[in-house]
Amino acid sequence: MNSNNALLIRSLQGKKQERIPFWFMRQAGRYLPEYRELRSRAKNFLDFCYTPAMAAEATLQPIRRFGMSGAIIFSDILVVPDALGANVNFQEGKGPVLTPVKTHEELDRLSFDRFGERLSPVYEALRLTRASLPQETALIGFVGAPWTIACYMVQGISDKNFHGVREKASADAKFFSSLIALLTEAVTRHAVAQIQSGAQVIQIFDSWAGVLNEEEFRRWCIEPAKRIVAGIRNVHPAVPVIGFPRMAGKLYGEYAKATGVNAVSVDQSLPPQEAREQLAELCVIQGNLDPELLCGDKNRMLAQAEKIIVTFGDKSFVFNLGHGILPQTSIENVEALSRFLKAV
Ligand code: CP3
Repeated sequence: MNSNNALLIRSLQGKKQERIPFWFMRQAGRYLPEYRELRSRAKNFLDFCYTPAMAAEATLQPIRRFGMSGAIIFSDILVVPDALGANVNFQEGKGPVLTPVKTHEELDRLSFDRFGERLSPVYEALRLTRASLPQETALIGFVGAPWTIACYMVQGISDKNFHGVREKASADAKFFSSLIALLTEAVTRHAVAQIQSGAQVIQIFDSWAGVLNEEEFRRWCIEPAKRIVAGIRNVHPAVPVIGFPRMAGKLYGEYAKATGVNAVSVDQSLPPQEAREQLAELCVIQGNLDPELLCGDKNRMLAQAEKIIVTFGDKSFVFNLGHGILPQTSIENVEALSRFLKAV
């Protein structure tokens, strides 16, 4: 079998399959002891991402244990601002810390001069991973959406609702649209380069789409995503793109229609039946088990997984979580869920 015939790819192309493909956002991470061991050998998190052998190993770890249908390359959405020359750090226990970019002068200091060179370890990690992956496992590349990357660049640190960033976007729309345009170009280039290095699917993570009102959502989430999808299709028309405008609520359908993504990844706040009503006619659905359920009682987790499958399973569908795996996740639960999904 050629890996482009993988179950995940065929499902994303909209063809109903005999089995349900599955993978989990953040499937590589701190809940795995072998990840913690590997991580302890890296100088810092960005160095870990930029060491191809380590990034490839982290990508493969969950596949060896659980046999997901897709392997998402181990990296981070913030490598893009880093490669543009922004100052990005990951502090232990605190998450990402960036020197805020808030003025035209600060924005003008960012450039594509060393972009491809700085990201070349990510591309090498993709090549190494593809060479070690089983044929039936699809390799997934990803980018952060411009809005979500901009949240970290403008705010400098994580926040609950990025209110200050929305404020900045409306108070200084000229600056903010320049920043979004730069990031749209950057993530499109990064997605295309990942495909050229072996990625067979691209997911666009817009983790903070849900803090936007409708008008902002159209401008800062839908419009850039539409351009990114068009930019990828222009070069690689057959590569499926998954959009994840997390917490988009009743706007998931509009996002699917306007951006033309092949699939939409749905968070757990939307009941499966509602997701189906909004999206089933428009695109493939991916989702949407609550990651908290993987930290609790196994039978409650499996009951909700079953409900999701009953709701979506007659269509082409990709099983995933509504957001990333949490560090306190029980490995036994991930094992049980993977076994269950392989058997349906
Ligand atoms: O899914 C995977 O297994 C691939 C790897 C992956 C990481 N980050 C590794 C990571 C992916 C797809 C991401 C995406 C990402 N990064 C997003 C979008 C998805 C989401 O979770 O909403 C965002 C917003 C980021 C930015 C980011 N990176 C934050 C806010 C943090 C700190 C929070 C935390 O969990 O610690 C990170 C660090 C990070 N990225 C870790 C991992 C495994 C943990 C750091 C560590 O191991 O020390």
